[in-house]
Amino acid sequence: MVPIGVLASGRGSNLDAVLDAIDNRYLTKCEVKIVISNRPNAAALDIAKKHYVQTITLDDKGIPKKDWDYDQKTIAALKSHGVLPREGLIVLAGYMRIVSEHFVDLYPHRIINVHPALLPSFPGLEAQKQALDHGVKVTGCTVHLVDREVDHGPIILQTAVAIRDDDSVETLSSRILREEHRILPEAIRLLTEDELRFEGRRVLFKN
Ligand code: GRF
Repeated sequence: MVPIGVLASGRGSNLDAVLDAIDNRYLTKCEVKIVISNRPNAAALDIAKKHYVQTITLDDKGIPKKDWDYDQKTIAALKSHGVLPREGLIVLAGYMRIVSEHFVDLYPHRIINVHPALLPSFPGLEAQKQALDHGVKVTGCTVHLVDREVDHGPIILQTAVAIRDDDSVETLSSRILREEHRILPEAIRLLTEDELRFEGRRVLFKN
């Protein structure tokens, strides 16, 4: 079983999708050992509890968005719950912090993120609004490995979502979110069932 640690800051719907996929046995080779939130009131904490998963809050009030001292506390919490470098998998599911280079280096190819746009387009915050404002006709979502740059690492899965003339940020976000809830568990399945290999920036199927 691959031990997973989920880092989340908010609503937690992607966390819910992953835990549902475990509960209904779509994912059978992994276990979420710990959910860590940087925000004490994150709904993600309640979602974890609903699924009987342990939680830790490491309040980051007043701490810079990227901070190695803070990350060391997160790493200690991950390790103490069995999410060890090389064996474990860390899922950033709406985690509103930037993981520092040392953190990334400690877990090579073992940290993934879900982003609500087709990277490399529209990295950063408010990706759905960026896509609407830019006028693209197609956007979507991406699950990728985390590297030292924000929203940049090798891409595991992407799905396209067409933009409609009458879309608002809300309607577009909700259609993208449905796809996130599908490709995040699927990416975790591919990784934890050891179906992927890495060739530079390319993530390929083993056979
Ligand atoms: C998602 O849109 C995800 O792509 C982005 O943050 C949002 C988190 O939503 N990184 P939730 O907390 O999983 O509901």
